[in-house]
Amino acid sequence: MKKTTVYDWPTRIFHWLFAFLFLGAYLIAEIVDDENPVFTLHMLAGLTIGFILILRIIWGFIGTTYARFSSFKLNPIEFIQYLKDAVVAKTKRYLGHNPASSYAALVMFICAAGLAITGVMMTSGGESDFYEETHELLANIFLITVIVHVGGIIFHHLKHRDSLWSSMIDGKKQPLPEKTGITNSKRFAGMLFLILTLMWSGYLYSKYDSTNQTIDLFGQELVLGEEEHESTYEGEVHEDENND
Ligand code: HEM
Ligand code: HEM
Repeated sequence: MKKTTVYDWPTRIFHWLFAFLFLGAYLIAEIVDDENPVFTLHMLAGLTIGFILILRIIWGFIGTTYARFSSFKLNPIEFIQYLKDAVVAKTKRYLGHNPASSYAALVMFICAAGLAITGVMMTSGGESDFYEETHELLANIFLITVIVHVGGIIFHHLKHRDSLWSSMIDGKKQPLPEKTGITNSKRFAGMLFLILTLMWSGYLYSKYDSTNQTIDLFGQELVLGEEEHESTYEGEVHEDENND
């Protein structure tokens, strides 16, 4: 049966940028020491996730049918029924997000927003254990959700064989009776999404001072490496010594 388009370009571009930036930020945080200049990329990826999330939220109100938050299936009873069916029988098919991926998306969006906020707080002088611990907790909730999300897609594929997995690549799903896909996949809006994201990354890069490892985010200086704290501290020590 001929597939129908459900996910527009901005939603798909967002999905893959979000996935790769998350994996990049997470891996850097796990592999690279936070005193290493490469750790800067962690913050740049995180700030870019924050930016694309804002674009996605706007798109959730003005985008095409299945990109809109109003089409997300967030009824808890429907969610429980969906999970039960997944175990005992075949789950009901959805043209847009199913209840499991609607909840997964919501949790990931909240985690990403929280990570960007706690990340900015940590690097703008608000050095408190609260921000650090919340940051780590959100990162781990995010990771678990990603694992469940990808596991769920594999599980769905084994059960239904309807190539749901590729709908975030080509935007298409098997049709359902009495449901219509979208007629315009918003290619131009997708290009704009990508251009704005590149401009944002360029802006961050232009405001990055590699000597001090700082970034000027709309007038707020973010200290992107631990070295800044150390060199300031050392500077203060030398001054004190000179005064003696
Ligand atoms: C780090 C990895 C990943 C993250 C963070 C992630 C995140 C997300 C998010 C946020 C959504 C909701 C999209 C929106 O409406 O904006 C979503 C949906 C979806 N993702 Fe992923 N994803 C990841 C990996 C994957 C992979 C590897 C695949 C499959 C090849 C995939 C396939 C899908 C599909 C098919 C949907 C729509 C599900 C539905 O129609 O119910 N994702 N994902
Ligand atoms: C989706 C985005 C992000 C993810 C997944 C993420 C993930 C992580 C993880 C897993 C850690 C290691 C926690 C630990 O084991 O101690 C970490 C640490 C850190 N992150 Fe992020 N982060 C993100 C965004 C950001 C942003 C936007 C900033 C700053 C602008 C930031 C700044 C930091 C800093 C400074 C640390 C080191 C904290 C410490 O000293 O323990 N992160 N992040």
